[in-house]
Parts: sequence; C-alpha cells; structure tokens
Amino acid sequence: MLHIASRMNRIQPSPSSMAGQRARELRAAGRDIVGLTSGEPDFDTPEHIKDAVQVALAAGQTKYTDVAGTPELRAAVADKFRRDNELDYAPGEVIVGTGGKQVIFNAFMCTIEAGDEVIVPTPYWVSYPDIVRLADGQPVFVDCPPEKGFKLQPEDLERAITPRTRWLVMNAPNNPSGAAYTRAELKALTDVLMRHPHVMVMTDDIYEHILYDGREFVTPAQVEPGLKDRTLTVNGVSKSYAMTGWRIGYGAGPAALIKAMVKLQSQSTSNPSCVAQAGALAALTGPQDFIAARAAEFQARRDTVVGWLNAIPGVSCHLPEGAFYVFPSCAALMGTRTPQGRHIAGSDDFVLYLLEQEGLALLQGTAYGVPPYFRISFATSLARLEEGCGRLARACEQLRR
Ligand SMILES: Cc1ncc(COP(=O)(O)O)c(C=O)c1O
Repeated sequence: MLHIASRMNRIQPSPSSMAGQRARELRAAGRDIVGLTSGEPDFDTPEHIKDAVQVALAAGQTKYTDVAGTPELRAAVADKFRRDNELDYAPGEVIVGTGGKQVIFNAFMCTIEAGDEVIVPTPYWVSYPDIVRLADGQPVFVDCPPEKGFKLQPEDLERAITPRTRWLVMNAPNNPSGAAYTRAELKALTDVLMRHPHVMVMTDDIYEHILYDGREFVTPAQVEPGLKDRTLTVNGVSKSYAMTGWRIGYGAGPAALIKAMVKLQSQSTSNPSCVAQAGALAALTGPQDFIAARAAEFQARRDTVVGWLNAIPGVSCHLPEGAFYVFPSCAALMGTRTPQGRHIAGSDDFVLYLLEQEGLALLQGTAYGVPPYFRISFATSLARLEEGCGRLARACEQLRR
C-alpha cells in the first residue's frame, strides 16, 4: 500500500515552479500566455563558460569529484569571497552544492532540532519556510514594513529572538521586494545579533551582483567580522552568470558546519555535476565585466516597468534596489468584482483573474507572505514586459466596485 510520509503535508510545492508549469500547460493547450513569473535571467550563459565545459569534457573530466566540489572550484569560491566580500575562508570552510537551494537545505537539515525557530523576514523567498518545516523547525515571520523599504528593522529583529531561535535568514537584494541594505542598515542588524550569540546567520547573497543605482553590496560577516564564526554565506552562479539550469551554488562558513553539510550531501546527491562545476569554475575565474553590463540592462528595464505599473490605476509599485523583480501592491483593487462577477478578495483571486481574463501569468503576494501584492519578473524582453503591463492595465480597468 502506497504511503506518503506525513512530513510531506508540512510543505507546499514551490509556487514559482507551479506557476511556470501552469503557464507552459496553458500555452501547450493553445492559449496565448504572457508569463512573467520566471526567476531566471533571459540572457544566455556566456560563451567562455560553455567553451570551458567543452575543454573539460574533452579532457575526460566526467568522473565523481570530491563531495564538497573540486579543490579548484572551492579555491575559486574562496578567492571570490576575498575579492568581492573581504571574507577569508579556507577550502575546508567551503561547500559547493546543486544550487544555492541545496546548500540552504543542507544547512537547515544539519542544524535544526524539532521546534527550533528560524526567523524569516517577510516578504521571503518561497522556499525558506518549507525547508525549515521539513527540518522539523518552526519559521517565525517578521514583517519588513513597505514604508521602510521592506527592510528588517533592528527593533523587530530584537523582539523576535527567543532562546529557541536557531537561525536568522537574510536575503538581500531580496526576492521578491528588491530591498538591499546599506552598510549602516546592516550594521544595525548585526549589532542586535552580537547581543545574541546563540543565533546563527544564514545570508543568501544570490542577487549580489544585481544591484542598482551604484549601491555597494555588503554581507553580514563583512560588516561585523565578529559574526563570521556563526554565519553561513550562501551564493551561486545561477543569477549573476545566467546559469540557473546548471545547478551550482556554494556556501562558506564555520568548518564544523560545512563538515556536517558535506556528510549530508555525501548521503544524498554526492558531488554536484562535474560538468557544471567546470562551468562554474570558468564563471568565477573568467572575465567579470559582463555582469555590470547586464545589471545596467536590468536597471533600465526596472525603470521602464515601474513607470508603466504606476500609471495603472489601483496598482502602486516601489522602486526595487536590486534583483530582477518588481513587487507592486494591488491593495486598492481588493473588494472589486470581475466582469464575470467574481469577488477579488486577495492576491490569489487577482492573479487567477489575470491568468483567465488576459492570459497573464504573475505570482501572488501570498506566496511570499505579503498579501495583497504580486510579483513580476523583469528578467525578460521589454517587448514582453510591455505586452504584460498592457494586459495588466486592461484587466484592472475592467474591475468594478
Ligand atoms: C532568494 C533566492 N535564493 C536562492 C535561489 C536558488 O538559487 P539556485 O538556482 O542557486 O538554487 C533563488 C532562486 O530563485 C532565490 O530567488
């Protein structure tokens, strides 16, 4: 008799993966769908990275590697942390995994005891709470107020910490809000953490290089070196190098934590794909100049899209500081009715209406813990974004009180 373990009832399928899947199904069924859900750059992986993989394959690099990643790639990761983040890690303090997601999964599974609390600033990337729940932990959500740029406030962090707090998860630039911290804002948070030595810090820096208006990127262990021995700094090649499908992420932190994570990985996926590791090595050690050029392109799209959105009555959008998402409010449209007479009570109803009425696929704010908002990815062409915003405007116009 088939049995599915009860722990599976604690989690939901990833809403972003589901939305992408639904858009693909509707398209396959002949509907004209504009999908703006995708969390991946529309740019291709640069040629020099693809070329490096051909060379590695020709040289027979097709075998198992160290579980934690090849020594060359771990050294390149350590160099990257020194070069970009003023962080000094030995090879034994670095792990390479199958995406940043696996690194986060490993860390939570290795450290959370039943009932331990993990502080998740809201809005949050959809996977944090469910990975915490799979690890028997308890996500503790702390609102980051829109009027404060969706940033975690030190006094709110202080209030949320209890003796059961195991981790704080930081993610900036943030998916979905785009919020990024200045050095002073981050220092105010690390000052709180210095008063609570039992709290570990997971910082998900995956959007590090997608930062706008000349902002400086900073990460917790950099602004407060006193936190380094309890911080796991997570990053990866997915977003910066347009390598989402390659599935390479990495983390650096205290040797004992990394050792446990490698042990877990040795009993799950073993090493990340050797081919993808060769690509990631070329990404981290090769030319870096295209990253800024691509970020500039994203910034231009951001400005255009935010302008279009704020011209739609009922929609209100702040200017994200980084990442490639806009996260507008649709609060003014709650309580309206669709032409078919359906009541729009929340962003789930709103997003479903957009899909059915206009063939526009977006993501609902509830997935990120903040109704009534919605997320649009602008990692796609301006033509597609213009078509999407046009459909959104048309759909909003038809809503009545
Ligand atoms: C905030 C955040 N962290 C981690 C990831 C996962 O990245 P990876 O492809 O490295 O698993 C994503 C992907 O969307 C993300 O948005």
